[in-house]
Amino acid sequence: AAPVLVDGFCRQIRYLRLSVTDRCDMRCLYCMAEHATFAPRRELLSLEELYRLAAIFIRRGIRKIRLTGGEPLVRKDVMRLVADLSPHLADGSLDELTLTTNGSQLKRFAGDLVSAGVRRVNVSLDTLDACRYAAITRWGRLERVMEGIDAAQAAGLHVKLNAVAVKGQIETEVDSLIAFAHGRGMDLTLIEEMPFGDTGRNGPGSFLSLQELRNSLAERWTLVPVLDRTSGPARYVRVAETGGRLGFITPLSCDFCAGCDRLRVGSTGQLYTCMGHEEPVSLRDVLRANPEDDRQVEQLISRAVMGKPRGHGFGMDGGGALKRPMSALGG
Ligand code: GTP
Ligand code: 5AD
Ligand code: SF4
Repeated sequence: AAPVLVDGFCRQIRYLRLSVTDRCDMRCLYCMAEHATFAPRRELLSLEELYRLAAIFIRRGIRKIRLTGGEPLVRKDVMRLVADLSPHLADGSLDELTLTTNGSQLKRFAGDLVSAGVRRVNVSLDTLDACRYAAITRWGRLERVMEGIDAAQAAGLHVKLNAVAVKGQIETEVDSLIAFAHGRGMDLTLIEEMPFGDTGRNGPGSFLSLQELRNSLAERWTLVPVLDRTSGPARYVRVAETGGRLGFITPLSCDFCAGCDRLRVGSTGQLYTCMGHEEPVSLRDVLRANPEDDRQVEQLISRAVMGKPRGHGFGMDGGGALKRPMSALGG
């Protein structure tokens, strides 16, 4: 078998985040500018090319694939890719196929996802207030997301909620999010907002440290650290009062890069070996120039992985801000 991908810091790469589109049906304030521009369609990898790349990564030891966007479920015929990847779950060459979604299309796709072997999805939800939801997403409808969550759970999917910890906002939302998520048997993960793109939200004082929020939560809730975790960056506690799990993703206040096991591929075939990277390696041209032969793409990937940086440069002061929008890579 082909060797597992290992980087220059001896980190084994087991997790691929594959963005299937940079488009989204919403425009969350921290993610995209209102008049965001998108890659021309001809630059996007086709579904066949996305599958081919995924299969190459699986051969090189990737065990978990997360489809991201933009919003992955707005990519036309995305379920074809899911269906193509499904046999890898059945034959054991892949442990997990999942996605991170805003939930707006979940009602339509939940059943098909389960049929394809998807067992859980992460849904982004920052507030339970419909007006505030519309403001954060610029025009998203909370009701549709709620229907999506209902449909996902009814179909048997495990749902995890992700909330970006926007300073000045999460403080008043977090208790109701905990109660809602845990009341419905869902984990909730809070994410420190990171400085991306021309959202106009960078700079000292813009961001909230989850260490701070956690301390204030500990005054109201009993937070019991738990050691079990996914291969994702979240560190979890159990909230004794609800019995549910609460995760913290802390790129700014407490770096988790030493244990990083992931790569990202953008929807036009750019390989980003780190979230904090601005200079991806394009896999697309080599992929297209060698339709029958994967060796050159594999070499390109191996070489890029050796250059995977130690970590990102995000800091609490807004340092390490990136020009590309978050939506280019779906987190
Ligand atoms: P699980 O499999 O449920 O653990 O999910 P995950 O945390 O791997 O994926 P998810 O898409 O839910 O990630 C939530 C958010 O965490 C992303 O949108 C990013 O904002 C952030 N995140 C995930 N991985 C990284 C990473 O490697 N570096 C940084 N800086 N942030 C990350
Ligand atoms: N900082 C942190 N997380 C972000 N997300 C989008 N933009 C940012 C940001 N600037 C999250 C979304 C979703 C995932 C796709 O990325 O909330 O959970
Ligand atoms: Fe769309 Fe997700 Fe970005 Fe919001 S965070 S604009 S839902 S991709």
